[in-house]
Amino acid sequence: MEDPRNRQYTNDEITVFWKPAKCVHATTCFRELIEVFNPGRRPWVDMSAASTQRIIEVTDKCPTDAIVWKYNKDLSENELQASTSTSEEVNPETLSTDPETKPAKVTIMKDGPIVVEGEFKVIDSNGNELKSMIMTSFCRCGGSHSMPYCDGRHRKIGFNDKK
Ligand code: FES
Repeated sequence: MEDPRNRQYTNDEITVFWKPAKCVHATTCFRELIEVFNPGRRPWVDMSAASTQRIIEVTDKCPTDAIVWKYNKDLSENELQASTSTSEEVNPETLSTDPETKPAKVTIMKDGPIVVEGEFKVIDSNGNELKSMIMTSFCRCGGSHSMPYCDGRHRKIGFNDKK
C-alpha cells in the first residue's frame, strides 16, 4: 500500500516524488537548492523556484531516492491523478531520529552509500574534527566529487554491489 505521507510536485515538464520513508536526511536537496527544497515552508517543494534542469540535477543527488523525478509525459494514470497536496506534510527535518535516545546506526544502502544516523563526529586522518553530525551518507562507490560524502553520482556511474 502506498505511504499516505508520499507527495508529488509538478511543473510543466517534470514531477518530483517525495517519499519520506526513504529519507535519511542527507540534506543534499536543501543544501543545494533551498529555493525549491525548503523544509521550513509548506508545501516544502516549490517547483517554480528553479529551472527544470537544476531540479533534475539536485534530485538525482538524493542518495536514497527519497526524491525522484519523471517527465510528465511518462507519468502513469495514477500518478497523473495524484495532485500536489498542500495538506499536512511531513517535515524532512523532523523525521530525524533523536541522537539522545538512539545509538548511532550504520546502514549500507543497496548499490549506494553508507548512511550513518546518530550523534557522531567526522575526523580526518590527522585527528582534526571536520564535522559534528546526526546524519550523513558516505560515498561507497568512489565516484563522488564531494568526498567523503555521497553526492548521488553512484547512480550515474551505475555502481552495483556485485561489481
Ligand atoms: S556512493 Fe553515492 S556517490 Fe559514491
